[in-house]
Amino acid sequence: MFRIFLAVLIPYALVLSVLLWRKRPVRHGTKPVSRGWGNRLRVLVIGATGATGRQLVQQALEQGHQVTAFVRDPAKLNMAHANLRIARGDVLDYASVESAMRGQSAVLSALGHKRFFYPNRIQSDGMRNILQAMNTCDVPRLVCETALGIGNSVGRLGLPHTFLILPLLLAFYMWDKLRQEQLIIASDRDWVIVRPGVLTNGEARGSYRHGPKVGSYLWPVKIARADVADFMLKQLTDDAYVGAAPGLGY
Ligand SMILES: NC(=O)c1ccc[n+]([C@@H]2O[C@H](COP(=O)([O-])OP(=O)(O)OC[C@H]3O[C@@H](n4cnc5c(N)ncnc54)[C@H](OP(=O)(O)O)[C@@H]3O)[C@@H](O)[C@H]2O)c1
Repeated sequence: MFRIFLAVLIPYALVLSVLLWRKRPVRHGTKPVSRGWGNRLRVLVIGATGATGRQLVQQALEQGHQVTAFVRDPAKLNMAHANLRIARGDVLDYASVESAMRGQSAVLSALGHKRFFYPNRIQSDGMRNILQAMNTCDVPRLVCETALGIGNSVGRLGLPHTFLILPLLLAFYMWDKLRQEQLIIASDRDWVIVRPGVLTNGEARGSYRHGPKVGSYLWPVKIARADVADFMLKQLTDDAYVGAAPGLGY
């Protein structure tokens, strides 16, 4: 029985890996990326009630940014600060996204969900709305958290994820994440796709690896959400990864 399971699972996992594979992303558009906008920005955080999103909001406020937290349920955020504004909305509702987008300098997205087991387009349709609103409101920069294991990082979440977790639990989710990445790559915004390894709620270490070679084909690399937020915030003013999709892990 176990052999039959493996005989089905392994080819399926390999086919899924091929389907999730894409060439290294390349940025479109010719606008200069350096905005020279200093260190105090107006930042829209999508997914602000999530585990990474809360870190983004908290650290952005600590750094002196003006933050708009885009949330479905304001009661869930439970944070107050003079520089924090809450915008109630849903990424699938374009009007609410555009309304929150007005006047922003940049967008940080830590959008995610738990509807793993049926096909859906929450991440990609949400990102389509975000990109359209960025265009309409002339917001130039997007930093979006996705994940290792798709595009040119296929396999880099390690063997257990490549052969078990992705095929058995996350196939639909990662497929939509890939679609989300493709929309970002095709856009003319100054985008950075951030692909962390397995997320933890540990303390920030302040030191982590980033770049196209992060991740292991054998074992999962981990990274605390606090450090993901630290890296994402740095991408607001650092142009080194604009138009790229660095991995992130210890
Ligand atoms: N878990 C891992 O090990 C891992 C590894 C690599 C990458 N990632 C990726 O990293 C990202 C962040 O993960 P996380 O675990 O920190 O996030 P999370 O806790 O799952 O939070 C997701 C956020 O997205 C929001 N959201 C969902 N649907 C929405 C909608 N329709 N409109 C507006 N907001 C919506 C949620 O709002 P509500 O609070 O209202 O639900 C929540 O704030 C995800 O994309 C995830 O796939 C995860």
